[in-house]
Formats: sequence, C-alpha cells, structure tokens
Amino acid sequence: MKQFLKNIITEAGKMTLNYRKGLSELVIEHKSVRELVTEADKAVEEFLVAQISKRYPDHGILGEEQGQRVGNEYRWLIDPIDGTTSFVHGQPFYGVSIGVEKSGQMVLGAVNFPVMGELFEAEKDGGSQCNGKAIRVSARKKLSESVLATSFGCVGTTEKDDNVEFFRGLNTCIKSVRFLGSAALHCCYVANGQMDGYWQGDVKPWDVAAGMLIISEAGGKCSNFSGDAYDFSGDFLATNSRIHDELIRLLNAVRERINNRN
Ligand code: IPD
Ligand code: CA
Ligand code: CA
Repeated sequence: MKQFLKNIITEAGKMTLNYRKGLSELVIEHKSVRELVTEADKAVEEFLVAQISKRYPDHGILGEEQGQRVGNEYRWLIDPIDGTTSFVHGQPFYGVSIGVEKSGQMVLGAVNFPVMGELFEAEKDGGSQCNGKAIRVSARKKLSESVLATSFGCVGTTEKDDNVEFFRGLNTCIKSVRFLGSAALHCCYVANGQMDGYWQGDVKPWDVAAGMLIISEAGGKCSNFSGDAYDFSGDFLATNSRIHDELIRLLNAVRERINNRN
C-alpha cells in the first residue's frame, strides 16, 4: 500500500505541475469569499479517487472536493491541492496530501510538494521521511527561540475567535511566525524541524490527516488548543512536543480573554 500511495501521489504532483504551466487559463471557482477551487483540484482528486477505487474498491474515501464514500475499515483522506491560493498565485507552497486510516487510526501518510521536490512519508511505527531520509522534530525547548506557523485564511469577518487575537497573544513570546499558506506544509516543516510549532483554528480532516502521522512519527505532538486529541474538526496545534504544554497555556489564556470580552 505504501508503494501504491507513493506512486499515485507522485503522479498527482506531476498533474499539478502541468496545470501550473497554464495558470492564466486555469478555471477557478469560489467556494466562498476566500476559498478557491480550480479545475486542477478537481482533476487531481478525480484521478486519485479513480486509482484508489480501482486498487481498493472496498476502501472508504474522504476527499475535499468529492466528499465521502463509505467503505470498510480503511479510509483515504485526500486534499488534492493543499494551498490552492498559493498554487493559483504561482507560488511553490502547495502540496498533494493523502492520509490512510485503518479503524480510525492513521496508518499511512504522504504529502508531495512537487515544485519544491519534497515528498514526505510516514507509516505507523515506521518513522517519517523526506525524500527517503529520516526526519525528526526540532529539539528546541524555549518558546522565545521558537518559530511557529499559522494561517489567517480560515478567519471569516464574522468569526468570534479571530486569529489576530491568538497571534497577538503568542507573538511576543516566540521568536517569529511564518504563514506559508498550506496546513500540510506547516505540518511537514514541524516534522522536519524547520518549524517548532503550528496553530490554527478550523482545520479540516484532509488538511492535516497525513501531516499528523508525519509529525507524530517524527517525534512531535498534535492536539486541539485544549490539549485533547484533535478529532478532525476545530482548532489544531502541532509542535515538536517540547513546547506543547506552554503553548496550550498561552492559547487558553487568549481564549479566556476572548470569552470574557464577549
Ligand atoms: C487551506 C490551506 C490553508 C489553511 C486553510 C485550508 P486549501 O487549504 O491549508 O493554509 O489556512 O484552512 O483550508 O483550501 O488550500 O486546500
Ligand atoms: Ca486544505
Ligand atoms: Ca484543497
């Protein structure tokens, strides 16, 4: 299954590179004011679903664009292009992300960033690799030395838990923040130690299914902002594990301030 996943995600990455050559012609639709979907997203997911269905007809699938197909104990979670806005703007920060669950537990994950030439993979109890080389989270323990990622893409103008508040609360305690526009990329960069943590509200299952396994197999930790298991909805925190508890304290202090104000 691991090799099959590698084959299809490599092909999918190539498909996005072809669409990238004709960006000015790309058909783009708006799912909401900030959420885009392109013909590339749809075609890549269609390709992946067709391949998986042919090889594993009994498996379930949850794809961002096509939704859910119920199956046996296996479920493939697909984000055909994570970072569509980056993709549409010609930036390299997007990837194809696929996680495989067995009986509710992530067992395989891969994310392909084709422009950057980076393929991240993980297997339950088999460690994480980037382009075949083992990766580990950073050893950084001090928040003041840590670089974190987040995203403002999820924030709607009417949303109460504005990420600006979390940003304000964390920014003075850490070294710096990065916004690369792809949840999967933020996860993979936590896994390989290039970032020390990543927080975001309103994360979808396909955004982080593969990333979660890649992080945990590289020695990191994922949860929601309260420190409980992230259950595929709501807020999400991923770290090198060493700064996790301190971040939870800070995030909760911000949340309390927001709640008291409202
Ligand atoms: C988005 C990206 C972005 C994150 C959004 C996601 P998409 O995924 O991962 O970084 O902030 O919450 O929806 O729409 O490009 O697949
Ligand atoms: Ca996504
Ligand atoms: Ca997507």
